[in-house]
Parts: sequence; structure tokens; C-alpha cells
Amino acid sequence: MNETRAESLVVTTFAERPDLLAKVFEPEIQSAMPEFMRHDPTGALYYGDGNLDRYLQYGLVAVDPAAPHRPVARAFSVPFAFPDGARGREALPDGGWDQVIRWGHRDRVAGIPATAISALEIMVAPRLHGRGIAGVMLSALRDNARRLGFAELYAPLRPTDKHREPLTPFAEYAARRRADGLPRW
Ligand SMILES: CC(C)(COP(=O)(O)OP(=O)(O)OC[C@H]1O[C@@H](n2cnc3c(N)ncnc32)[C@H](O)[C@@H]1OP(=O)(O)O)[C@@H](O)C(=O)NCCC(=O)NCCS
Repeated sequence: MNETRAESLVVTTFAERPDLLAKVFEPEIQSAMPEFMRHDPTGALYYGDGNLDRYLQYGLVAVDPAAPHRPVARAFSVPFAFPDGARGREALPDGGWDQVIRWGHRDRVAGIPATAISALEIMVAPRLHGRGIAGVMLSALRDNARRLGFAELYAPLRPTDKHREPLTPFAEYAARRRADGLPRW
């Protein structure tokens, strides 16, 4: 498994591999999640109370073919109606991650057809960080959105290491750049 390469991964939906749904929440992958993210009450509308079973087409899991029962990465997305003037959804929401989960939840309960899709997360097993797996998962999310009939994939961005510096002002942190000009988060 140490030879796991991003190009060799097989990525499928949880509709195809429901047996892996519980496994991607075990420490192998779940340990990559910052503690504060585990206490967001909005998250339960998607991840909790059995709701995740309704989004199996919108969740992806990656495995190395050499170990097909041991997931190495997961990705989730949520569908919702957008733009939707009748519900005051003219622009993407300032509430980001939480708000697209709320929109998706409300639409699902009310039976409103989804017209847009947003990524919610990509999470890679920490032992395999830095091998390009996030890029593979992002492409797979985009391909899955297309397969499901959506023209665009939105994504609320979280500066991934900000939680390690809670006292740094957010604007200062978000302005950091690498030598090549890309964000250093
Ligand atoms: C963020 C995460 C998904 C990256 O996965 P990965 O497979 O290690 O990333 P990759 O190897 O595909 O790197 C992709 C690019 O992102 C960059 N990158 C990765 N982590 C980064 C970070 N914290 N800050 C800035 N750039 C980062 C890499 O340098 C690379 O860019 P490059 O190709 O221009 O050098 C992974 O670290 C992770 O699972 N973190 C915990 C969960 C998380 O924060 N997910 C994202 C928000 S939901």
C-alpha cells in the first residue's frame, strides 16, 4: 500500500460501494478532519441521522485496486436548487458550506428538483497526503456532477490549516501566498 499512486486509484460512488460508507468514517481517513468540523450542527442535516443514505450518488470513495476494501479517500457533494429567485437564491450564499447543506436538505424534504451541485469535502488518508489524490477526487467529483446532469460544480473553500492558528486574523491567513502566487493555506 505504500506504493499507492493517485493515477491507479479506482473511484466509485457509495451507491456502487455502500459497503465502504462506514469505513470512510473510521480513523484511517476521519483523522484528517479537524476537531471543530465534527461539532457543526448543520453537518448532521447531511451526515447524521441516516441522511447520508439519501446522498449515496453524491459521495465518492477511492480505493487502491491492490486493497479494494480499504478506502484511501472520500469526497461528498450536495444537490440543491440554484439560482432560485422564488426562494431568494439569486447568488451563492455567504453561509458557504453550512448554507448549501441547508438548501439541499430543505429541497430534498420539500421535493424541489436540484439544478446545481456543490462539493462539501475531499478527505485523504493522512498517510497518503501529497501524492495528488485530492486532484483525482476533485476531477471525480466534477465527472460525477456531469454524469448526474449538472453543468457546474460549486465548491465552498475552507483554508485547510487555519484551525492550527486560531488566533491569526482570518484575512491575514487567507492572504498568504506561495512563491508561485497560489494560496498557502
Ligand atoms: C487538503 C487535502 C485534501 C489535500 O490532499 P492531498 O492528496 O494531500 O493533496 P494533493 O497531493 O493532491 O495536492 C494538491 C495540491 O494542493 C496543495 N495543497 C495540499 N494541501 C495544502 C494546504 N494545506 N495548503 C496549500 N496547498 C495545499 C498541494 O501542494 C498541491 O498543489 P501543487 O500540485 O500545486 O503543489 C488533504 O490534506 C486532506 O485530506 N486534508 C484534511 C481534510 C481537508 O482539509 N480537506 C479539504 C477541505 S474539505
